[in-house]
Amino acid sequence: MSDSKSLSQFEMAPLASLDEWEEDVLKRYPEAGIQANTKQKEEFRNYEAPARDTVREFYRLNHTYQTYDFVQEKRADFLQFNKKQMPVWDAFQFLNQLVDDSDPDTDLDQFQHLLQTSEAIRADGHPDWMVMVGLIHDMGKVLCLFGEPQWAVVGDTFPVGCAHSEKVVYPEFFGQNPDSQSEKFKSTYGVYEPNCGLRNVTMSWGHDEYVYQMMKDSLPESALYMLRYHSFYAWHREGAYEYLLDDHDREMLKWVKLFNPYDLYSKSPKPPDWNELRPYYEGLVKKYLPATLRL
Ligand SMILES: [Fe+2]
Ligand SMILES: [Fe+2]
Repeated sequence: MSDSKSLSQFEMAPLASLDEWEEDVLKRYPEAGIQANTKQKEEFRNYEAPARDTVREFYRLNHTYQTYDFVQEKRADFLQFNKKQMPVWDAFQFLNQLVDDSDPDTDLDQFQHLLQTSEAIRADGHPDWMVMVGLIHDMGKVLCLFGEPQWAVVGDTFPVGCAHSEKVVYPEFFGQNPDSQSEKFKSTYGVYEPNCGLRNVTMSWGHDEYVYQMMKDSLPESALYMLRYHSFYAWHREGAYEYLLDDHDREMLKWVKLFNPYDLYSKSPKPPDWNELRPYYEGLVKKYLPATLRL
């Protein structure tokens, strides 16, 4: 099942657009810093059930097929960064080919989401490397343009190679994941040592890990945590997987938490004026990123 060529169109793309996942996250976490209350979540799930079938199907696929071996295959392939090479600004244009056909009136393109996130960070006076994180954090979604199914690009991420936490959204679907029957992977620690640190933990494959690997030589450690774990809601919102963390992760968590509200709550229907902002961002990109991006 790891061969993407054998997937049906629906298995590739149950969501009308990638934004549908993010809209669902926003419904789960409607307010900054407030941990989701399980009861409210359940009520919400029932109330919205008919409208959320596509999201549910998306998570069924994600939780079923994101196995330890699947992630290793994707890492071996995509972390060679041998698919494309282009100037940074061309890469943003390339990403923008991911158009959202579900609701063209209200949805912003990928670049607008990045720019709104980075502008909200800048407006609050955070360091410029964090503005850079805002601008680049979803660049990994280009994976979709390389033919990867949605469930291998977006969705909440989680550790693979050990027991799945009940705090990951739709935990019931992990029952379909072959790793949950595997002697090697099904125990609490699986292939890991207690408190080994997230750097030694393999996460489910998607746009977070891919952009982290793309940027790991260009940005400070706190920025890299924001990139690498921004979709790991079970950790940064729900406090799961404490037993895999080390002190460095606990220290870095505050940065991941600082970033998350800008990603979730900065969407506004009024697009920023790119022509006005352009000189600033050209300088920023020049400061932090290599001239050419390897995808
Ligand atoms: Fe993201
Ligand atoms: Fe985002």
